[in-house]
Amino acid sequence: MKRGIPTLDDLEARLDDLTGKRILVRTDFNVPLDGETITDDFRIRAALPTLGWLTERGADVVAASHLGRPRGAPTPKYSMEPVRQRLAELAPGVELVENLRFDPGEEANDERFVEHLIEGVDGYVNDAFGASHRAHASIVGPPKHVPSAMGRLLEREVDVLLGLRDSPKRPFVVVLGGAKVSDKLGVIEALLETVDSLLIGGAMCFTFLAALGRSIGDSLFEPDQIDTCKRLLEGGKDIHLPSDIVGLDAAGNVATWGGRVAQGGKGLDIGPGSAAAFADVITEARTVFWNGPMGVFEDDRFAAGTRAVAEAVAATKAFTVVGGGDSAAALAEFGLDDDVDHVSTGGGASLELLELGDLPGLAALREGSR
Ligand code: 3PG
Ligand code: MG
Repeated sequence: MKRGIPTLDDLEARLDDLTGKRILVRTDFNVPLDGETITDDFRIRAALPTLGWLTERGADVVAASHLGRPRGAPTPKYSMEPVRQRLAELAPGVELVENLRFDPGEEANDERFVEHLIEGVDGYVNDAFGASHRAHASIVGPPKHVPSAMGRLLEREVDVLLGLRDSPKRPFVVVLGGAKVSDKLGVIEALLETVDSLLIGGAMCFTFLAALGRSIGDSLFEPDQIDTCKRLLEGGKDIHLPSDIVGLDAAGNVATWGGRVAQGGKGLDIGPGSAAAFADVITEARTVFWNGPMGVFEDDRFAAGTRAVAEAVAATKAFTVVGGGDSAAALAEFGLDDDVDHVSTGGGASLELLELGDLPGLAALREGSR
């Protein structure tokens, strides 16, 4: 047991012997696809330690995942077939059922769907960290009915992220980017209680800059969040905002602005001065958590800020954790994914675990073991 949650070893002890036992493993194989091609199989590879551990012990392993958001109906574009093919190469002999979200019972957490999932199953393993913030049937249902455990991937995510939350080495620096403040408000408030410095980039920085009364031109921002941002900025914590911005001016040319974005201009990345300042803070840190790109890094003209942060995170001596599909993709694109201590397989899940210290999927495993 770890934090009241059974591990794979506990499951083996409970089932006596895993040979011939049918084990349902909830994985998060929600991978990025380009048509039928998987563009990044990180989430599949991340489940291999658990799948391998079970098959080595002679268990009959059946994996189950969602893919995309098909909203309760079979949708050819979200078929698990590409994942099934990749999984057959990486973990031969592991079965994979069709997309869980093809059934409306998955997201509705319908008890009949849970019963369908556990039919003929001797044990259940949750290794779907990235989906464990969803109280869906396959995440919270099975532990009520069959002996259950967390897989190796889930265990490591919990160790690392709760470690950051409970006892980070200081200075603890968090770098947040991405589009919306409203999505990250809860985690920002929770983090401000524990972090030493919070660095904010991405489109969400414009709502903070607007809250300071700076001109942001036509940059994306959330007017209804300005008061909240003001309150956060007045809270006396060390919040760093970009001092310069790169974007497109009113004529559509790339421009760099100091504190104020020109009229008609649209900010799309943090500027070189901000990138250097952020990198300095990251270099001095002993713990770093990064979630969300600093700009529209898919476009080379607006990738420099995200690249500078990625390079600083890769180079610092601090313990480094990166969460969220976009930041992980950026790291991989820059070839730096091997240079951080932990790349989380979860975006929303890692933020929610940092904010609340628990997830529906973890609570279900804990309660199921009582
Ligand atoms: C993710 O990719 O964030 C997880 O797989 C969860 O997917 P969801 O956001 O569609 O629930
Ligand atoms: Mg998501």
